[in-house]
Amino acid sequence: MHFLDIKGGNLLKGGIKISGAKNASLPLIASTLLSKNSIVLDNIPDVVDIKTFLKLIKILGGDFHLDNNSVTINTMNVNNTKATYDIVKTMRASILVLGPLLARFGDCEVSLPGGCAIGQRPVDLHLKALEAMGAEIEIKNGYIHSKAPNGLRGAVIVFDKITVTGTENIVMAAALAKGTTKIINAAKEPEVVQLCEVLRDAGVAISGIGTDEIIVEGSDRELLPMQNISIIPDRIEAGTYLCAGAITNSELTINNVVINHLESIIAKLQEMGFGITFSKNSITLLPAKKIKPVTIFTSEFPGFPTDMQAQFMALATQADGVSIIDERLFENRFMHASELNRLGAKISINGNIATIEGNTKLYGADVMATDLRASSALVLAGLVATGQTKVHRIYHLDRGYERLEDKLNRLGADIKRGNESIF
Ligand code: EPZ
Repeated sequence: MHFLDIKGGNLLKGGIKISGAKNASLPLIASTLLSKNSIVLDNIPDVVDIKTFLKLIKILGGDFHLDNNSVTINTMNVNNTKATYDIVKTMRASILVLGPLLARFGDCEVSLPGGCAIGQRPVDLHLKALEAMGAEIEIKNGYIHSKAPNGLRGAVIVFDKITVTGTENIVMAAALAKGTTKIINAAKEPEVVQLCEVLRDAGVAISGIGTDEIIVEGSDRELLPMQNISIIPDRIEAGTYLCAGAITNSELTINNVVINHLESIIAKLQEMGFGITFSKNSITLLPAKKIKPVTIFTSEFPGFPTDMQAQFMALATQADGVSIIDERLFENRFMHASELNRLGAKISINGNIATIEGNTKLYGADVMATDLRASSALVLAGLVATGQTKVHRIYHLDRGYERLEDKLNRLGADIKRGNESIF
Protein backbone atom coordinates (compact mmCIF):
# COMPACT_ATOMS: atom_id res chain seq x y z
CA MET A 1 0.00 0.00 0.00
CA HIS A 2 1.20 3.52 -0.75
CA PHE A 3 2.07 6.14 1.83
CA LEU A 4 3.23 9.77 1.64
CA ASP A 5 6.37 10.82 3.53
CA ILE A 6 6.23 14.56 4.22
CA LYS A 7 9.07 16.70 5.53
CA GLY A 8 7.39 19.63 7.25
CA GLY A 9 8.47 23.25 7.56
CA ASN A 10 8.69 24.43 3.93
CA LEU A 11 6.96 27.61 2.82
CA LEU A 12 4.91 27.22 -0.36
CA LYS A 13 5.05 29.59 -3.31
CA GLY A 14 3.74 29.82 -6.84
CA GLY A 15 0.58 28.66 -8.56
CA ILE A 16 -1.20 25.44 -9.50
CA LYS A 17 -4.04 24.51 -11.85
CA ILE A 18 -7.14 23.03 -10.27
CA SER A 19 -8.46 19.85 -11.92
CA GLY A 20 -12.00 19.03 -12.96
CA ALA A 21 -14.45 18.20 -10.18
CA LYS A 22 -14.74 14.55 -9.15
CA ASN A 23 -18.24 15.15 -7.77
CA ALA A 24 -19.39 16.72 -11.03
CA SER A 25 -17.76 14.02 -13.18
CA LEU A 26 -19.47 11.08 -11.45
CA PRO A 27 -23.12 12.13 -12.08
CA LEU A 28 -22.19 13.34 -15.57
CA ILE A 29 -20.69 9.95 -16.44
CA ALA A 30 -23.90 8.36 -15.13
CA SER A 31 -25.96 10.76 -17.27
CA THR A 32 -24.39 9.33 -20.45
CA LEU A 33 -26.75 6.37 -19.89
CA LEU A 34 -29.52 8.76 -20.99
CA SER A 35 -27.80 9.66 -24.27
CA LYS A 36 -28.63 8.58 -27.81
CA ASN A 37 -25.09 9.43 -28.97
CA SER A 38 -21.43 9.32 -28.01
CA ILE A 39 -20.21 12.16 -25.78
CA VAL A 40 -16.81 13.68 -24.96
CA LEU A 41 -16.26 14.80 -21.34
CA ASP A 42 -13.29 17.14 -21.07
CA ASN A 43 -11.36 18.27 -17.95
CA ILE A 44 -12.05 14.90 -16.27
CA PRO A 45 -9.78 14.50 -13.19
CA ASP A 46 -7.29 11.62 -13.28
CA VAL A 47 -8.47 10.03 -9.99
CA VAL A 48 -9.40 6.48 -8.98
CA ASP A 49 -13.14 7.11 -8.54
CA ILE A 50 -13.45 8.17 -12.18
CA LYS A 51 -11.69 5.01 -13.36
CA THR A 52 -14.00 2.95 -11.12
CA PHE A 53 -17.11 4.61 -12.55
CA LEU A 54 -15.89 4.09 -16.12
CA LYS A 55 -15.30 0.41 -15.26
CA LEU A 56 -18.95 0.26 -14.13
CA ILE A 57 -20.10 1.77 -17.44
CA LYS A 58 -18.07 -0.95 -19.21
CA ILE A 59 -19.58 -3.72 -17.03
CA LEU A 60 -23.03 -2.44 -18.03
CA GLY A 61 -22.05 -2.83 -21.68
CA GLY A 62 -21.06 0.74 -22.50
CA ASP A 63 -17.83 1.78 -24.21
CA PHE A 64 -15.34 4.48 -23.29
CA HIS A 65 -11.97 5.78 -24.43
CA LEU A 66 -9.98 7.67 -21.79
CA ASP A 67 -7.17 9.92 -22.99
CA ASN A 68 -5.56 11.82 -20.08
CA ASN A 69 -8.22 14.29 -18.95
CA SER A 70 -10.75 13.56 -21.67
CA VAL A 71 -13.09 10.59 -22.02
CA THR A 72 -15.42 9.62 -24.86
CA ILE A 73 -18.38 7.52 -23.71
CA ASN A 74 -20.97 5.63 -25.74
CA THR A 75 -23.71 3.76 -23.89
CA MET A 76 -25.78 2.68 -26.91
CA ASN A 77 -24.78 -0.97 -26.39
CA VAL A 78 -25.63 -1.14 -22.69
CA ASN A 79 -27.26 -4.55 -22.20
CA ASN A 80 -26.66 -5.27 -18.52
CA THR A 81 -28.60 -3.43 -15.82
CA LYS A 82 -26.92 -4.93 -12.74
CA ALA A 83 -24.41 -2.83 -10.76
CA THR A 84 -22.73 -5.53 -8.71
CA TYR A 85 -21.55 -5.42 -5.09
CA ASP A 86 -17.87 -5.76 -5.95
CA ILE A 87 -17.86 -2.40 -7.71
CA VAL A 88 -20.44 -0.57 -5.57
CA LYS A 89 -18.58 -1.48 -2.36
CA THR A 90 -15.52 0.39 -3.66
CA MET A 91 -17.47 3.48 -4.63
CA ARG A 92 -20.82 4.37 -3.16
CA ALA A 93 -21.44 6.98 -5.88
CA SER A 94 -22.29 3.97 -8.11
CA ILE A 95 -25.82 4.55 -6.78
CA LEU A 96 -25.96 7.28 -9.45
CA VAL A 97 -26.66 4.65 -12.15
CA LEU A 98 -29.93 3.70 -10.45
CA GLY A 99 -32.03 6.61 -11.74
CA PRO A 100 -30.77 6.50 -15.35
CA LEU A 101 -30.91 2.67 -15.65
CA LEU A 102 -34.43 2.49 -14.22
CA ALA A 103 -35.69 5.37 -16.39
CA ARG A 104 -34.18 3.91 -19.57
CA PHE A 105 -34.68 0.15 -19.12
CA GLY A 106 -37.53 -0.08 -16.58
CA ASP A 107 -35.71 -2.81 -14.66
CA CYS A 108 -32.36 -2.81 -12.83
CA GLU A 109 -30.48 -4.14 -9.83
CA VAL A 110 -28.01 -1.96 -7.95
CA SER A 111 -26.11 -3.21 -4.94
CA LEU A 112 -27.12 -1.35 -1.80
CA PRO A 113 -24.12 0.85 -0.97
CA GLY A 114 -22.94 0.08 2.55
CA GLY A 115 -21.94 2.77 4.98
CA CYS A 116 -18.47 4.27 5.00
CA ALA A 117 -16.03 5.80 7.48
CA ILE A 118 -17.98 9.07 7.74
CA GLY A 119 -21.41 7.63 8.36
CA GLN A 120 -24.21 5.22 7.46
CA ARG A 121 -24.89 7.06 4.20
CA PRO A 122 -28.43 5.68 3.65
CA VAL A 123 -30.15 5.98 0.24
CA ASP A 124 -33.73 5.85 1.56
CA LEU A 125 -34.54 9.26 0.09
CA HIS A 126 -33.43 8.16 -3.39
CA LEU A 127 -35.69 5.09 -3.21
CA LYS A 128 -38.70 6.91 -1.75
CA ALA A 129 -38.51 9.44 -4.59
CA LEU A 130 -38.31 6.76 -7.28
CA GLU A 131 -41.31 4.96 -5.75
CA ALA A 132 -43.23 8.24 -5.95
CA MET A 133 -42.39 8.19 -9.69
CA GLY A 134 -43.99 4.75 -10.03
CA ALA A 135 -41.03 2.42 -9.38
CA GLU A 136 -41.59 -0.89 -7.55
CA ILE A 137 -38.57 -1.29 -5.29
CA GLU A 138 -37.55 -4.31 -3.24
CA ILE A 139 -34.34 -4.69 -1.25
CA LYS A 140 -33.25 -8.33 -1.26
CA ASN A 141 -29.88 -10.02 -0.69
CA GLY A 142 -28.16 -6.63 -0.45
CA TYR A 143 -29.50 -5.43 -3.80
CA ILE A 144 -31.99 -2.74 -4.73
CA HIS A 145 -34.32 -4.44 -7.23
CA SER A 146 -36.21 -1.72 -9.13
CA LYS A 147 -38.91 -2.09 -11.74
CA ALA A 148 -40.90 0.43 -13.75
CA PRO A 149 -42.17 -1.67 -16.69
CA ASN A 150 -44.23 1.19 -18.12
CA GLY A 151 -41.52 3.74 -17.45
CA LEU A 152 -41.35 6.31 -14.69
CA ARG A 153 -43.93 9.06 -14.40
CA GLY A 154 -43.47 12.63 -13.27
CA ALA A 155 -44.27 13.34 -9.60
CA VAL A 156 -43.89 15.95 -6.88
CA ILE A 157 -40.86 14.92 -4.78
CA VAL A 158 -40.21 16.53 -1.43
CA PHE A 159 -36.82 15.57 -0.01
CA ASP A 160 -36.94 15.34 3.81
CA LYS A 161 -33.20 16.13 3.82
CA ILE A 162 -31.13 17.88 1.18
CA THR A 163 -29.26 15.13 -0.67
CA VAL A 164 -26.73 15.82 -3.43
CA THR A 165 -26.71 12.44 -5.17
CA GLY A 166 -30.38 11.98 -4.33
CA THR A 167 -31.20 15.15 -6.27
CA GLU A 168 -28.89 14.05 -9.10
CA ASN A 169 -30.47 10.58 -9.32
CA ILE A 170 -34.00 12.01 -9.49
CA VAL A 171 -33.15 14.77 -11.99
CA MET A 172 -31.72 12.08 -14.30
CA ALA A 173 -34.71 9.75 -13.76
CA ALA A 174 -37.11 12.65 -14.36
CA ALA A 175 -35.39 13.53 -17.65
CA LEU A 176 -36.68 10.28 -19.18
CA ALA A 177 -39.92 10.01 -17.21
CA LYS A 178 -43.37 10.69 -18.69
CA GLY A 179 -44.68 14.06 -17.55
CA THR A 180 -43.52 16.72 -15.11
CA THR A 181 -41.41 16.16 -11.97
CA LYS A 182 -41.08 18.86 -9.33
CA ILE A 183 -38.27 18.36 -6.80
CA ILE A 184 -38.73 20.36 -3.61
CA ASN A 185 -35.82 20.86 -1.17
CA ALA A 186 -33.37 20.01 -3.95
CA ALA A 187 -29.58 20.31 -3.50
CA LYS A 188 -28.01 23.44 -5.04
CA GLU A 189 -24.36 22.33 -5.21
CA PRO A 190 -22.50 23.50 -8.38
CA GLU A 191 -22.15 19.85 -9.36
CA VAL A 192 -25.96 19.48 -9.36
CA VAL A 193 -26.23 22.70 -11.38
CA GLN A 194 -23.85 21.43 -14.06
CA LEU A 195 -25.81 18.16 -14.38
CA CYS A 196 -29.05 20.16 -14.86
CA GLU A 197 -27.37 22.44 -17.42
CA VAL A 198 -26.06 19.44 -19.39
CA LEU A 199 -29.55 17.92 -19.49
CA ARG A 200 -31.04 21.29 -20.49
CA ASP A 201 -28.46 21.51 -23.31
CA ALA A 202 -29.67 18.06 -24.40
CA GLY A 203 -33.15 19.49 -24.87
CA VAL A 204 -34.71 18.64 -21.50
CA ALA A 205 -37.02 21.40 -20.25
CA ILE A 206 -35.65 22.13 -16.74
CA SER A 207 -36.47 25.18 -14.62
CA GLY A 208 -35.22 26.22 -11.18
CA ILE A 209 -31.63 25.19 -11.88
CA GLY A 210 -29.50 26.17 -8.87
CA THR A 211 -32.53 26.65 -6.65
CA ASP A 212 -34.15 24.33 -4.11
CA GLU A 213 -37.10 23.73 -6.45
CA ILE A 214 -36.35 22.04 -9.78
CA ILE A 215 -39.00 21.24 -12.40
CA VAL A 216 -38.22 18.70 -15.14
CA GLU A 217 -40.33 17.83 -18.20
CA GLY A 218 -39.53 14.21 -19.08
CA SER A 219 -38.99 12.80 -22.60
CA ASP A 220 -41.05 9.63 -21.98
CA ARG A 221 -38.04 7.34 -22.49
CA GLU A 222 -36.83 9.14 -25.62
CA LEU A 223 -33.00 9.06 -25.34
CA LEU A 224 -31.34 12.48 -25.30
CA PRO A 225 -29.10 14.15 -27.91
CA MET A 226 -26.41 14.98 -25.33
CA GLN A 227 -23.71 17.55 -26.11
CA ASN A 228 -20.02 17.33 -25.25
CA ILE A 229 -19.19 18.47 -21.70
CA SER A 230 -16.35 20.35 -20.01
CA ILE A 231 -16.30 19.46 -16.29
CA ILE A 232 -16.34 22.40 -13.85
CA PRO A 233 -13.27 22.91 -11.63
CA ASP A 234 -13.13 21.05 -8.31
CA ARG A 235 -14.08 23.54 -5.57
CA ILE A 236 -12.99 21.13 -2.82
CA GLU A 237 -9.58 20.53 -4.38
CA ALA A 238 -9.29 24.33 -4.71
CA GLY A 239 -10.24 24.81 -1.05
CA THR A 240 -7.75 22.15 -0.01
CA TYR A 241 -4.87 23.96 -1.73
CA LEU A 242 -5.95 27.28 -0.23
CA CYS A 243 -5.70 25.54 3.16
CA ALA A 244 -2.23 24.25 2.21
CA GLY A 245 -1.16 27.85 1.67
CA ALA A 246 -2.93 28.96 4.85
CA ILE A 247 -1.49 26.32 7.18
CA THR A 248 2.06 27.12 5.99
CA ASN A 249 1.16 30.83 6.00
CA SER A 250 2.44 31.15 2.43
CA GLU A 251 1.43 33.14 -0.63
CA LEU A 252 0.03 30.92 -3.37
CA THR A 253 -2.27 31.16 -6.38
CA ILE A 254 -4.82 28.61 -7.56
CA ASN A 255 -5.78 28.81 -11.23
CA ASN A 256 -8.77 27.57 -13.21
CA VAL A 257 -11.36 28.06 -10.46
CA VAL A 258 -14.96 29.35 -10.38
CA ILE A 259 -14.75 32.00 -7.66
CA ASN A 260 -18.43 31.96 -6.71
CA HIS A 261 -18.19 28.22 -5.95
CA LEU A 262 -15.71 29.08 -3.17
CA GLU A 263 -17.38 31.99 -1.41
CA SER A 264 -17.99 30.29 1.96
CA ILE A 265 -14.42 28.93 2.03
CA ILE A 266 -12.93 32.32 1.10
CA ALA A 267 -15.04 34.06 3.76
CA LYS A 268 -13.71 31.70 6.47
CA LEU A 269 -10.10 32.22 5.38
CA GLN A 270 -10.61 35.99 5.47
CA GLU A 271 -12.21 35.66 8.91
CA MET A 272 -9.03 33.82 10.00
CA GLY A 273 -6.92 36.78 8.88
CA PHE A 274 -5.73 35.72 5.41
CA GLY A 275 -5.69 38.15 2.50
CA ILE A 276 -7.37 36.99 -0.71
CA THR A 277 -7.05 38.63 -4.13
CA PHE A 278 -8.93 37.66 -7.27
CA SER A 279 -8.43 37.73 -10.99
CA LYS A 280 -10.72 36.27 -13.69
CA ASN A 281 -10.51 32.60 -12.68
CA SER A 282 -7.65 32.66 -10.18
CA ILE A 283 -7.41 33.26 -6.45
CA THR A 284 -4.27 34.32 -4.56
CA LEU A 285 -3.96 33.67 -0.82
CA LEU A 286 -1.78 36.10 1.15
CA PRO A 287 -0.25 35.18 4.53
CA ALA A 288 -1.98 36.27 7.73
CA LYS A 289 -0.20 38.47 10.27
CA LYS A 290 -1.77 36.25 12.91
CA ILE A 291 -4.11 33.33 12.18
CA LYS A 292 -7.36 33.92 14.06
CA PRO A 293 -9.50 31.11 15.53
CA VAL A 294 -12.80 30.33 13.82
CA THR A 295 -16.23 28.79 14.38
CA ILE A 296 -17.55 26.62 11.54
CA PHE A 297 -20.97 25.05 10.98
CA THR A 298 -21.03 22.71 7.98
CA SER A 299 -24.10 22.93 5.79
CA GLU A 300 -25.31 22.40 2.26
CA PHE A 301 -24.25 24.76 -0.57
CA PRO A 302 -23.87 27.74 -0.49
CA GLY A 303 -22.99 27.19 3.19
CA PHE A 304 -19.64 25.89 4.42
CA PRO A 305 -19.00 22.49 2.78
CA THR A 306 -18.63 19.39 4.95
CA ASP A 307 -15.95 18.25 2.48
CA MET A 308 -13.74 21.11 3.72
CA GLN A 309 -14.26 20.43 7.45
CA ALA A 310 -11.22 18.19 7.96
CA GLN A 311 -8.88 20.58 6.16
CA PHE A 312 -10.00 23.52 8.33
CA MET A 313 -9.59 21.39 11.45
CA ALA A 314 -5.92 20.94 10.56
CA LEU A 315 -5.59 24.68 9.86
CA ALA A 316 -7.28 25.59 13.15
CA THR A 317 -4.46 23.92 15.12
CA GLN A 318 -2.27 26.87 14.04
CA ALA A 319 -4.76 29.61 14.94
CA ASP A 320 -4.12 31.98 17.86
CA GLY A 321 -6.95 30.66 20.05
CA VAL A 322 -9.66 27.98 20.32
CA SER A 323 -11.75 27.08 17.25
CA ILE A 324 -15.06 25.19 17.11
CA ILE A 325 -16.38 22.99 14.30
CA ASP A 326 -19.97 21.75 14.26
CA GLU A 327 -20.37 18.94 11.70
CA ARG A 328 -24.02 18.95 10.82
CA LEU A 329 -24.23 16.59 7.82
CA PHE A 330 -22.48 13.38 8.78
CA GLU A 331 -22.54 11.52 12.07
CA ASN A 332 -18.95 10.29 12.07
CA ARG A 333 -16.81 12.75 10.17
CA PHE A 334 -14.16 13.46 12.82
CA MET A 335 -11.94 10.40 12.28
CA HIS A 336 -9.04 12.71 11.40
CA ALA A 337 -9.11 14.35 14.87
CA SER A 338 -7.38 11.46 16.67
CA GLU A 339 -4.78 11.25 13.89
CA LEU A 340 -4.13 15.00 14.11
CA ASN A 341 -3.72 14.59 17.88
CA ARG A 342 -0.96 12.03 17.16
CA LEU A 343 0.90 14.92 15.53
CA GLY A 344 0.50 17.05 18.65
CA ALA A 345 -2.84 18.72 18.02
CA LYS A 346 -5.17 19.24 20.99
CA ILE A 347 -8.63 18.45 19.62
CA SER A 348 -11.54 17.23 21.72
CA ILE A 349 -14.76 15.82 20.32
CA ASN A 350 -18.17 15.97 21.95
CA GLY A 351 -20.80 14.45 19.66
CA ASN A 352 -20.71 16.49 16.46
CA ILE A 353 -18.74 19.36 17.99
CA ALA A 354 -14.95 19.51 17.72
CA THR A 355 -12.97 21.94 19.88
CA ILE A 356 -9.52 22.71 18.51
CA GLU A 357 -6.91 24.38 20.69
CA GLY A 358 -4.68 26.78 18.75
CA ASN A 359 -0.97 27.59 18.86
CA THR A 360 -0.12 23.87 18.89
CA LYS A 361 3.30 22.85 17.65
CA LEU A 362 2.95 19.76 15.46
CA TYR A 363 5.63 17.06 15.29
CA GLY A 364 5.98 14.48 12.53
CA ALA A 365 4.59 10.97 13.17
CA ASP A 366 2.98 8.00 11.43
CA VAL A 367 -0.72 8.64 10.84
CA MET A 368 -3.44 6.75 9.01
CA ALA A 369 -5.91 8.09 6.46
CA THR A 370 -9.49 6.97 7.05
CA ASP A 371 -11.42 8.70 4.27
CA LEU A 372 -10.81 11.01 1.34
CA ARG A 373 -10.94 14.41 2.99
CA ALA A 374 -9.41 13.23 6.28
CA SER A 375 -6.35 12.10 4.32
CA SER A 376 -5.92 15.56 2.80
CA ALA A 377 -6.13 17.10 6.29
CA LEU A 378 -3.29 14.84 7.48
CA VAL A 379 -1.14 15.91 4.51
CA LEU A 380 -1.81 19.57 5.33
CA ALA A 381 -0.78 19.00 8.96
CA GLY A 382 2.37 17.22 7.76
CA LEU A 383 3.33 20.32 5.77
CA VAL A 384 3.68 22.30 9.00
CA ALA A 385 4.78 19.55 11.44
CA THR A 386 8.44 19.50 12.46
CA GLY A 387 10.18 16.43 11.04
CA GLN A 388 8.78 13.57 8.95
CA THR A 389 5.09 12.70 8.79
CA LYS A 390 4.07 9.46 7.10
CA VAL A 391 0.44 9.31 5.97
CA HIS A 392 -0.52 5.66 5.47
CA ARG A 393 -3.42 4.18 3.41
CA ILE A 394 -3.43 7.01 0.92
CA TYR A 395 -5.56 5.00 -1.46
CA HIS A 396 -8.26 7.15 0.16
CA LEU A 397 -6.49 10.27 -1.13
CA ASP A 398 -6.02 8.90 -4.64
CA ARG A 399 -9.77 8.49 -4.99
CA GLY A 400 -10.33 12.23 -5.22
CA TYR A 401 -7.08 14.20 -5.63
CA GLU A 402 -5.12 14.25 -8.86
CA ARG A 403 -1.37 13.86 -8.13
CA LEU A 404 -1.59 15.81 -4.89
CA GLU A 405 2.05 15.36 -3.91
CA ASP A 406 3.28 16.48 -7.36
CA LYS A 407 1.19 19.65 -7.19
CA LEU A 408 2.35 20.44 -3.64
CA ASN A 409 6.00 19.68 -4.46
CA ARG A 410 5.78 22.09 -7.39
CA LEU A 411 4.79 24.71 -4.80
CA GLY A 412 7.85 23.91 -2.66
CA ALA A 413 6.69 21.07 -0.42
CA ASP A 414 8.93 18.05 0.26
CA ILE A 415 6.76 14.95 -0.17
CA LYS A 416 7.78 11.48 -1.34
CA ARG A 417 5.41 8.63 -2.18
CA GLY A 418 6.46 5.23 -0.85
CA ASN A 419 5.10 1.71 -1.08
CA GLU A 420 4.88 -0.62 1.90
CA SER A 421 3.75 -4.19 2.17
CA ILE A 422 1.22 -4.73 4.89
CA PHE A 423 2.85 -7.97 6.03
C1 EPZ B 1 -22.29 13.93 -1.77
O1 EPZ B 1 -22.51 12.72 -1.07
C2 EPZ B 1 -20.79 13.99 -2.04
N1 EPZ B 1 -20.40 12.86 -2.89
C3 EPZ B 1 -20.01 13.92 -0.72
O2 EPZ B 1 -18.63 14.07 -1.02
C4 EPZ B 1 -20.46 15.10 0.15
O3 EPZ B 1 -19.81 15.02 1.40
C5 EPZ B 1 -21.98 15.06 0.34
O4 EPZ B 1 -22.64 15.05 -0.93
C6 EPZ B 1 -22.48 16.26 1.12
O5 EPZ B 1 -22.15 17.44 0.44
C7 EPZ B 1 -20.63 12.95 -4.23
O6 EPZ B 1 -21.18 13.93 -4.72
C8 EPZ B 1 -20.21 11.78 -5.05
P1 EPZ B 1 -25.94 13.52 0.69
P2 EPZ B 1 -24.03 12.20 -0.88
O7 EPZ B 1 -26.91 12.54 0.11
O8 EPZ B 1 -24.88 12.64 -1.99
C9 EPZ B 1 -28.39 11.99 4.45
C10 EPZ B 1 -16.36 13.53 -1.02
O9 EPZ B 1 -15.56 13.68 -0.09
N2 EPZ B 1 -29.13 11.14 3.50
O10 EPZ B 1 -26.03 14.94 0.27
O11 EPZ B 1 -23.96 10.75 -0.54
C11 EPZ B 1 -26.94 11.58 4.59
O12 EPZ B 1 -26.79 10.53 5.52
C12 EPZ B 1 -17.74 12.99 -0.71
O13 EPZ B 1 -16.15 13.84 -2.20
C13 EPZ B 1 -30.16 10.34 3.97
O14 EPZ B 1 -30.45 10.32 5.16
O15 EPZ B 1 -24.47 12.99 0.43
C14 EPZ B 1 -26.29 12.86 5.05
O16 EPZ B 1 -26.49 13.00 6.44
C15 EPZ B 1 -17.85 12.50 0.72
N3 EPZ B 1 -30.85 9.55 3.09
C16 EPZ B 1 -27.09 13.95 4.33
O17 EPZ B 1 -28.33 13.32 3.93
C17 EPZ B 1 -30.55 9.55 1.74
O18 EPZ B 1 -31.23 8.83 0.98
C18 EPZ B 1 -26.39 14.50 3.08
O19 EPZ B 1 -26.03 13.40 2.27
C19 EPZ B 1 -29.49 10.36 1.29
C20 EPZ B 1 -28.80 11.16 2.17
